[in-house]
Amino acid sequence: MKINKYFVIDFDSTFTKVEAFDVLADISLRDHPDKVAIKKQVEEITHMGMNGGISLRESLESRLALLHAEKKHLPALVTLLKSLVSESFKRNKEFFTTYADNIYIISNGFREFIEPVVTEFGIKPENILANQFTFDDSGKVTGFDKENPLSMSHGKAEQLRRLNLPGDVYVIGDGYTDYEIKHSGLANKFYAFTENVERESVMNHADHVTPSLDEFLYLNKINTAFSYPKNRIHVLLLENVHPVAIEMMKAEGFSVETYPAGLNEDELCEKIKNVSVLGIRSKTQVTAKVLEHANRLMTIGAFCIGTNQIDLKAATKKGIAVFNAPFSNTRSVVELAIAEIIMLMRNIPDKSAKMHQGKWDKSAKGSFEIRGKRLGIIGYGNIGAQLSVLAENLGMQVFYYDREEKLALGNATKCKSLKELLALADVITLHVDGRESNTNLIGTEQFALMKKGVIFLNLSRGHVVDVKALRESILAGRVGGCAVDVYPHEPISNNEEFVSELRGLPNTILSPHIGGSTAEAQENIGNFVPLKMMDYINTGSTSNSVNFPNLTLPTLENAHRLIHIHNNVPGILAKINKVLADNEINIAGQYLKTNEHIGYVITDINKHYNKDVIKELRAIENTIKFRVLY
Ligand code: NAI
Repeated sequence: MKINKYFVIDFDSTFTKVEAFDVLADISLRDHPDKVAIKKQVEEITHMGMNGGISLRESLESRLALLHAEKKHLPALVTLLKSLVSESFKRNKEFFTTYADNIYIISNGFREFIEPVVTEFGIKPENILANQFTFDDSGKVTGFDKENPLSMSHGKAEQLRRLNLPGDVYVIGDGYTDYEIKHSGLANKFYAFTENVERESVMNHADHVTPSLDEFLYLNKINTAFSYPKNRIHVLLLENVHPVAIEMMKAEGFSVETYPAGLNEDELCEKIKNVSVLGIRSKTQVTAKVLEHANRLMTIGAFCIGTNQIDLKAATKKGIAVFNAPFSNTRSVVELAIAEIIMLMRNIPDKSAKMHQGKWDKSAKGSFEIRGKRLGIIGYGNIGAQLSVLAENLGMQVFYYDREEKLALGNATKCKSLKELLALADVITLHVDGRESNTNLIGTEQFALMKKGVIFLNLSRGHVVDVKALRESILAGRVGGCAVDVYPHEPISNNEEFVSELRGLPNTILSPHIGGSTAEAQENIGNFVPLKMMDYINTGSTSNSVNFPNLTLPTLENAHRLIHIHNNVPGILAKINKVLADNEINIAGQYLKTNEHIGYVITDINKHYNKDVIKELRAIENTIKFRVLY
């Protein structure tokens, strides 16, 4: 493509993540007894040179003297460097091929290892300006071409002067020598590249600090692999989500901010303003008021199973896709439920408490095996169904009730009504979801239907049980013991007191919403949720979204993807297609799905189109959100 701009790009720590000499040292000094010390010296000299501390020639000569490099080391070096190309360079490969005529690699490193790496990206060999080694007959590196300006101080600037490029020059690099080009008046702008290293002295001189090539391309209005530089996508992760999630989102190039606790509504209203991706666990309440302030928010990840801490209706109306981890901690909840059933059937909470007070109360009275007892599971979803299998393996007779038709696993028996289940079970455990209509699903009336002395568990959601009625039922002896993990009001942090009518009751296990809190579950969740959110951002895919119509999309190849979210009213698809037809745009693929509230239309179109189309599509009445993926 013909443009009047030239892009001058540094190699070490910019094009690749590393300094090639450091990698070369690993190879050439592999069997050297003082390898570690010498490597450190090489790194120190590199660093001094980068900050302008010593002359370039001095830096090159002293490093080469330490390296004992030979021609035979180069193939391994090149292989390693190819695997160490900066992530944002890899994902913007198209930029290099499209603008090959205008891209120069100017480096104080060596052509012998730079050329094989960068030409794979379409960079022209004649546009690579770098030093060259000299070798002796046995292939040992003896030094370098001393006539080459790049082996001298201010060499990059001198090289640029000789090139005399007929247009604007933009330099991107991580070192002081890159800035020198601009300083000599030979470049219009200098961009400090900080994806791999951040050098204060260089950043202070830069016109822009660019944490990735995405940002550089965005600033220069060059169509890139992504519509928007990832570093501009602000991610806020609350409530100590697993470190693997933080790492994944950072590796993707997002700006990630983390916060150990939850935030209250007012704090979140303030914080959410510039956030595009929000990650929470079960404590943070994402209310309609919070969402009113969330003008940039694209997606919310609930790093847990339940999502009733999020106002899903309000999120949907704003075109915010919500994801959760529906299966990641299923097993953990099931294991706790099993343990609690056994503990309660043996009256262990009271016995243990007495022992702590020095009271020895040895008796078999009121203690039972779980084998042969009737377990009643209310809500036969992921957790209920898995509990069914494990409990049956322990010898329980399993009954379940679900509002939807669910396949019975093993020998479990389906109950036709909640009433039927309540009346027959020795142990009742709740695993329904937290939908609003489930509020007080179990109250005085339901407790009255249960067998006397029943063991009752709630590890689902707090509001599903009328806590006052549970308290009364326990005190009246109707319920023989209970385990509760979730509450209508849960403290927002460990500093808030837990206030509940359930405190101090007999044979009662209270746990602080930790049913799904195991190391294994947290790691599963930490891996699952970011993948879903990134998939949504990168491809528009909404598979497993809680509130969006679920669409799994093919990867985008040689097309632009238009993502249109609208209120679910008739005729929108026709309007989208009319805009495209009026602008003579060819549709390569189109996907539509709607739910009760919104419609989600994905249209893949050919790469070249009139940008006004975007404005027209945005202007379609009832559009909630619109974005383009490149
Ligand atoms: P799920 O969505 O797979 O299953 C819920 C089942 O309950 C569905 O089959 C649904 O049809 C049924 N259901 C809903 N309302 C009902 C009603 N009124 N009567 C009968 N059946 C009804 O959910 P999953 O993954 O099994 O989770 C269950 C619950 O456990 C959720 O509330 C979730 O928030 C909670 N949970 C709690 C954890 C903790 O740390 N304590 C950890 C993980 C989940």
